[in-house]
Amino acid sequence: MTETPAGGDVRLVGISKTYPHSASTAVHPLDLTVPQGAFFALLGASGCGKTTTLRMIAGLEDPTTGAVLLGDRDVTRLPPHKRPVNTVFQSYALFPHLTIFENVAFGLRRRGVTSVKKQVAQMLDLVQLGEFAGRRPHQLSGGQQQRVAVARALINHPQVLLLDEPLGALDLKLRRRMQLELKRIQTEVGITFIHVTHDQEEAMTMADTVAVMNGGRVEQLGAPTELYETPRTGFVANFLGTSNLIAATVTGVFGGTVTVTAGGTELKVPADRCATTPSSGGRLLVGIRPEKVSLVHADDAAVAGTVPDGRNRFSGTITSASFLGVSTQYAVATPACGTLEVYVQNTGRDSRLAPGAPVVLHWDPEHAFGLDGTQPDAVEPDPVQPDPVQPDAAASTGERA
Ligand SMILES: Nc1ncnc2c1ncn2[C@@H]1O[C@H](COP(=O)(O)OP(=O)(O)OP(=O)(O)O)[C@@H](O)[C@H]1O
Ligand SMILES: [Mg+2]
Repeated sequence: MTETPAGGDVRLVGISKTYPHSASTAVHPLDLTVPQGAFFALLGASGCGKTTTLRMIAGLEDPTTGAVLLGDRDVTRLPPHKRPVNTVFQSYALFPHLTIFENVAFGLRRRGVTSVKKQVAQMLDLVQLGEFAGRRPHQLSGGQQQRVAVARALINHPQVLLLDEPLGALDLKLRRRMQLELKRIQTEVGITFIHVTHDQEEAMTMADTVAVMNGGRVEQLGAPTELYETPRTGFVANFLGTSNLIAATVTGVFGGTVTVTAGGTELKVPADRCATTPSSGGRLLVGIRPEKVSLVHADDAAVAGTVPDGRNRFSGTITSASFLGVSTQYAVATPACGTLEVYVQNTGRDSRLAPGAPVVLHWDPEHAFGLDGTQPDAVEPDPVQPDPVQPDAAASTGERA
């Protein structure tokens, strides 16, 4: 690879890809800027175009339209080895017959660098594998091999490191450890990381900015908290965690608050947390995360002051309760808007909260968000069940009176 001055954002300008003999477009024209030094995640389900996007940045795939820029330099026509970019693949692709030292030294040797010892030692220290320099890849664990792959890519001092599901082969515990490890390495070396994953938790843990892809398009881009707290589409609302989405009709907009009605119940949503400009009579999907909803037994809710004034409030019946240790997940059937999911932290358990129990759900209107109620993936409320207690609901409950 060529030496280029460090620095510069990665800019994708109208980049798209339609594979030959393919009826569908893998990546629709995409404009995207990854700031220099960012830890950027491309997140999406299988087949949404993540790898294709990464391969176009690496030069392994020719874009059908558009350009790839690094800083001010157009690299669209440069072959992969001339770009200041390295890729770490899921399979690591280490050389099995070479020692760890020689695997890491490979990029330097290929460029004709003769004294590699110091640089290799530095890299092995960075990934905390100094003592393994003399081993071969098969003598290392999956996580250690993965770190060798990172060291081997970083020794070339790329401007950008591309990582395509690099933790995919690891078990969950090791994955979590490696996420923190990669984050530490990125902070230490300060170069741009573009990390592809289908795991929302992984993207949120590691990245400063996440682009959520769906069907070859970026649906939303932002900091993890921003995507989680104010998703702009139903897809994002349910790809990152879970959201209750309630189909409602707007009844008024006053002083920054949107008032809606859903199945005869009035709800409030802050106007600045709506992805559309709501107007009276229009449709709005009101979103609320399950952990933001409080749940009380109907007997308690009847006592004045239990549910503070100004909260959005629904009556319902518990249909299932699943005990998960740290929390209990409830499904609550409401006459007004179908079934809502509620997560209650396991601080003190109320044995009355079992399937069949009448309850009141309530939440701070500031925690709700509004989505375009006419978007294709907008949900309709479930039909109200005459008997909300499912026959197998009791079996799924961990709550015992
Ligand atoms: N070489 C190819 N020829 C034709 N179609 C392809 C080719 N590579 C990928 N595709 C198609 O392009 C789309 C996007 O594929 P891509 O590999 O970018 O998805 P992905 O988001 O990386 O998925 P995964 O999470 O499964 O790796 C898919 O529909 C895929 O079938
Ligand atoms: Mg892929």
